[in-house]
Amino acid sequence: MRKLPLSQSLQVIGRGTVNWMTDRPIVVSFEVTDSCTCHCLHCDHGGMRDDSRNLRPAEYGRYMQALRPCVVQVSGGEPLLRPDLVQIVRNIKAGSKLPYTILVSSWSLMTQPLYLELRAAGIDQFSVSLDFPDDRHDNFRCYPGLYRHLEDLIPQLARLGHDDIVLNSCITTENLGEINAIADKAREWGVNLCYSAYSARRTGCRDFLPQSPQQLAALNGHLDRVEARRDGTNWIVNSRSTLDATRRYFQDSGMPGCKAGHRFLVVTADGTLQPCSMQFRRYPLERRADMIQEFTRTNSCDQCYVSIRSYLDKSFPQLLGENVRAFFKVG
Ligand SMILES: C[S@@+](CC[C@H](N)C(=O)[O-])C[C@H]1O[C@@H](n2cnc3c(N)ncnc32)[C@H](O)[C@@H]1O
Ligand code: SF4
Ligand code: SF4
Repeated sequence: MRKLPLSQSLQVIGRGTVNWMTDRPIVVSFEVTDSCTCHCLHCDHGGMRDDSRNLRPAEYGRYMQALRPCVVQVSGGEPLLRPDLVQIVRNIKAGSKLPYTILVSSWSLMTQPLYLELRAAGIDQFSVSLDFPDDRHDNFRCYPGLYRHLEDLIPQLARLGHDDIVLNSCITTENLGEINAIADKAREWGVNLCYSAYSARRTGCRDFLPQSPQQLAALNGHLDRVEARRDGTNWIVNSRSTLDATRRYFQDSGMPGCKAGHRFLVVTADGTLQPCSMQFRRYPLERRADMIQEFTRTNSCDQCYVSIRSYLDKSFPQLLGENVRAFFKVG
């Protein structure tokens, strides 16, 4: 994975330090629509929803000025359903290098011209969901032809050499055996890979949560192999400590210490704040401090280990140290 230029890294660290001290979020996830092209088996989105109250592109500036995050995720539903997505990204970036901006998408609607337009608007990283290294992905996402589309498009865009595409693979009982085959696919396509962990909180379905001793042994075996495949290029984007924590999350069926609402938060499609995408207490932008007080300070939910948590559960010195080390590649 491409390293950030030093100037951008220093900006992220500088703004992160200020936000940490002033209780502003480090990461904000904008869910720009609740509608989706897919009906994935592990998710509570799926299909079209009422989009009439969605924020308009110009309204994103107000959130950016108030929250000033270092990192933004543009997500959904399926963000590529928004015909004005490029304009939204421009308003989030406002011509600046910050925030570091990640588009989280299934890529069901991605094309080469749109990829280039979104890059030019300020997307720094394209996070593309992949659950299986073949057309079982279509069945899991209930979207015929999706795998074929990705197989055509991803290597083609990777060859442009921007090194900004990361496959995002959510580990479930269904794809546990494919952990390394998905890594093979990332290598074959010339892109990076980030694993994430299934949470039963979205749908209430625990069948996809690896829990049995056999499943946990298989998980650990596959992740041991992943560890052995690391090299100096950072193509496996999760750190070793994050994958270790992911193992513990599955082992214990939970991970305490969540800072949702404080260090990270979600802005819903209609512009209200939520602690995370799976907690539905809603606050207007002006009442963010109440969300920290009323939700985060007493939150005991441990029901997911999404990647955002893996960074922001840490203490500030640990987070800062890891970021500086990652940049200079020491230790
Ligand atoms: C909610 S989707 C939104 C963006 C886009 N539609 C996509 O699928 O990439 C973001 C990520 O959440 C993951 N996800 C969905 N349901 C999940 C669950 N129950 N637990 C953990 N991750 C989940 C998806 O696999 C996807 O990578
Ligand atoms: S995971 Fe993404 S693509 Fe699948 S239903 Fe949920 S929002 Fe849609
Ligand atoms: S652990 Fe935190 S981020 Fe995950 S569902 Fe619970 S409150 Fe949300």
